[in-house]
Amino acid sequence: MTTAVNAPLVGTYNAYNSVRGLTEDPELTHVDRGTPMGDYLRCFWQPIAYEQQVTDLPLKVRALGEDLVLFRTGKGEYGLVEQRCAHRGASLEYGVISEQGIRCAYHGFHYAPDGTILETGAGAPLANGGKICLGAYPLFIYHSLIFAYMGPPERKPPFPMLDLYENPNVTVEPGIERACDNDCNWLQIHENSMDPVHTAYLHVILTGTQRGFSDEMGVVPVIQWAQGENGMYYMASRRLGDVVWVRILDCFMPNYGLVPPSDAGGTSKPDTSQLSYVAVWVLPVDNYNSKRMYLRFNDHRNPLRPIQRAMNFGQANDRPYSERQRYPGDYDMMMSQGKIAIHGYENLTPTDYGVIGLRAMLREGMQAVREGKDPLGINRDPNYRIRTRTQNTFLRVPAAATPEADVALLKEIGRQVAAGNYLNELPPK
Ligand code: FES
Ligand SMILES: [Fe+2]
Repeated sequence: MTTAVNAPLVGTYNAYNSVRGLTEDPELTHVDRGTPMGDYLRCFWQPIAYEQQVTDLPLKVRALGEDLVLFRTGKGEYGLVEQRCAHRGASLEYGVISEQGIRCAYHGFHYAPDGTILETGAGAPLANGGKICLGAYPLFIYHSLIFAYMGPPERKPPFPMLDLYENPNVTVEPGIERACDNDCNWLQIHENSMDPVHTAYLHVILTGTQRGFSDEMGVVPVIQWAQGENGMYYMASRRLGDVVWVRILDCFMPNYGLVPPSDAGGTSKPDTSQLSYVAVWVLPVDNYNSKRMYLRFNDHRNPLRPIQRAMNFGQANDRPYSERQRYPGDYDMMMSQGKIAIHGYENLTPTDYGVIGLRAMLREGMQAVREGKDPLGINRDPNYRIRTRTQNTFLRVPAAATPEADVALLKEIGRQVAAGNYLNELPPK
């Protein structure tokens, strides 16, 4: 579908000659079953809802372009099935929940959570000897966040465990307060996490410090990106007088990552660290819509404050248009890139390496799936723990003699912190 490559526009008053008519990159953005990205995303557990959202009624869910119905049986078992009844296609969002499953309201076909037909309407025999079933997907519930595996049954991997989940100082909680809908493709939301330059400009410099962010976030950081064992991460080092603030974010393949508190800065004591406070998944609802879903981490040595439990400024479509124009937030920037951002129009710079690297890693993942291999991020050993580096670490390190030498020093400190050479020795805040 991509029709041409952007030709850089030169001259002045020259919009007439700008390239028009480019379309999105379907390989990277489209998520339907049978597409390269759709098949790749279906290798992984995807968050579809929180337990708190499931009542005594079926819950209509859309994920990866598929219409599904989530329900909890009278016995407390969860099921995720295709929306359309296998009999004559009525929607199971109107189904009647039973002890063992869900009954279609139209003629009473009765389904178990795994899609087995427990009863047909009026006990009528099925034409093929009863071998049919309703499409269903397996679920895994982790701290009330419900994940679905929507790929080939024989390829189902273990749920990916982060080392952080088992940190004895940390309690994992559902982060439903931050969950939000995005009216655009999932990729531009996910790419935002590897774009630390915007944290300085959007969140502080251009329209003032936003709620949930600190003034010190407005110091443009020295940034490095690196490939990790299960994705990539960035190291953003900021000089705050005699203190160096290293902020590291993990981005795991293909569509989730970790974030440390964004309101840290001048009030944070030197020689302290903070771990990640949220994990965020960007669920592709379909090609044009996505959802952000969260788990939250409460480190008992430095408990979360109310502002850290709430949604940050500007993350959702919850403000009048004129206010969003005056004080735009992440939501406005990502939605304004279009329903699906068209990469052909971009003119990327070295500060966009995170975006470039993430797209390259996603393409490698899709290629692995095409070759029948497990992509990066799939680990079949159930005891495997994904190493996390996400943190804010503050170190007292006076500036080097020259600006150039200080940039080199900030980079070196960033790498050392990512390697764990400081964090492991630091007392908690
Ligand atoms: S359409 Fe569902 S039972 Fe007939
Ligand atoms: Fe942001």
